[in-house]
Amino acid sequence: MPRAIISPSVLASDFGNLTAECKRMIKGGAEWLHMDVMDGHFVPNITMGAPILSCVSKGVPGIFMDCHMMVAEPEKWVNDIADAGGALYCFHIEATNDPVSLINAIHERGMKAGVAISPDTPSTAITDEIANAADMLLVMTVYPGRGGQKFLERCVPKVAELRARFPDKDIEVDGGVGPKTIGVCADAGSNVIVAGTAIFGAESPESVIATLKATVNA
Ligand code: DX5
Ligand code: ZN
Repeated sequence: MPRAIISPSVLASDFGNLTAECKRMIKGGAEWLHMDVMDGHFVPNITMGAPILSCVSKGVPGIFMDCHMMVAEPEKWVNDIADAGGALYCFHIEATNDPVSLINAIHERGMKAGVAISPDTPSTAITDEIANAADMLLVMTVYPGRGGQKFLERCVPKVAELRARFPDKDIEVDGGVGPKTIGVCADAGSNVIVAGTAIFGAESPESVIATLKATVNA
């Protein structure tokens, strides 16, 4: 299984100090920063888009922005997110009819491509062709739309199914993940760990990051 990558979700950060919050996480041991882009269509909420990501990438040199695109038309934002400095563009399979072409478009703009599945979408929606084209698979462990929700353990078997099919692929989990729930995620085979509330809400984010990393790498 690939090594652990910790991607704190800035949705739980102080948006008024976003660049400082990102720097604090990198100093605390985070490899990536998880940027939740919501458009008010695919999910009810609106968060941030390319203009804000562009400020963050300028303000935090070397940042790896793991962009989770909870948007209705993922084809539409590839260029803007690439121009804003996005490193990974992860779209929802539920939002597109042509995932392979979208992955190719993302690669053409120099970003890594991720494919996300919501709680009600089976792992088989990610065909071999899609997974082989993608760099990362994201199994949501909450319904996309907001931070601070309860971890849905029933989604974890999908991680194990995908890990069995794709031993070398980055597999991300997102939603309600923290020190209490990392064990089952790591056992199932996820190596890219998103955590918002559990990291930003902690007294010592660096110790939570270290715990998550150590559990995956154990
Ligand atoms: C949910 C987002 C998640 C969320 C995670 O729609 O995709 O990234 O911010 O936050 P926690 O870790 O608080 O569940
Ligand atoms: Zn997310």
